[in-house]
Amino acid sequence: MLKVRNLKLGYDNVPVIFDVSLDVKEKEVVSIVGSNGAGKSTILRGLSGLIKPMAGTIEFMGENINKIPAHKLVEMGIAHVPEGRQLFGKLTVRENLMMGAYVLKDEATKKDALDQVYALFPRLKERESQPAETFSGGEQQMLAIARGLMSRPKLLMIDEMSLGLAPVLVDKVMDSLKVIRTTGITVLIVEQKVKEALELADRGYVLASGRILQTGTSAELLESDIVKKAYLGM
Ligand SMILES: Nc1ncnc2c1ncn2[C@@H]1O[C@H](COP(=O)(O)OP(=O)(O)O)[C@@H](O)[C@H]1O
Ligand SMILES: [Mg+2]
Repeated sequence: MLKVRNLKLGYDNVPVIFDVSLDVKEKEVVSIVGSNGAGKSTILRGLSGLIKPMAGTIEFMGENINKIPAHKLVEMGIAHVPEGRQLFGKLTVRENLMMGAYVLKDEATKKDALDQVYALFPRLKERESQPAETFSGGEQQMLAIARGLMSRPKLLMIDEMSLGLAPVLVDKVMDSLKVIRTTGITVLIVEQKVKEALELADRGYVLASGRILQTGTSAELLESDIVKKAYLGM
């Protein structure tokens, strides 16, 4: 579904991602893990078209998308749940969700998307008229993920869903992802919480200073010396 080769990304012509290659196959859950500043968010910004490659190629569903603008990529099926959630606090849950559906053409399709998201997350339906800001951090993250689903993506990319959450809430949010897995949607997550993210995923990539250090199945990475030593404190 996604094929990235020798990708170079940066800001103001200063590269921060060097020669990154990765693949995500249909229905997989893949994690990119790494410390703060490794370049995880930058990769997602590149894949969602918010910043353009300095070199390399990004293919989605067999098409080179290097030059396709971000809003078109949403229409093509790439959804990006950004770091820090970016919800509209004064707007209701329902209004926030509908923002995610802006690429859908007609009202009936939007209504269908909303019903599907509510079926996955009944708690959001119960509280659809409440302002987003009245939610806890964990619930807000669930809402941000649900908003990402509203565009009916083929590929859902989630940036740092555990950020700023207490450990019990991290588990809750990770549970939301288990719910999403049941729909067969393809998911790419980037995370600092290396253990949790790998436990959820089928495969992973370890990113450090803008380069891929290691890749493998989640089980392989969790057992690898680099991961154990640098990220799991073992
Ligand atoms: N908007 C920006 N402008 C300039 N440099 C940035 C910007 N965003 C991130 N960077 C730099 O790019 C590098 C990677 O950052 P980032 O992708 O945010 O890492 P991560 O998400 O893994 O914490 C860091 O050195 C960071 O300072
Ligand atoms: Mg980040």
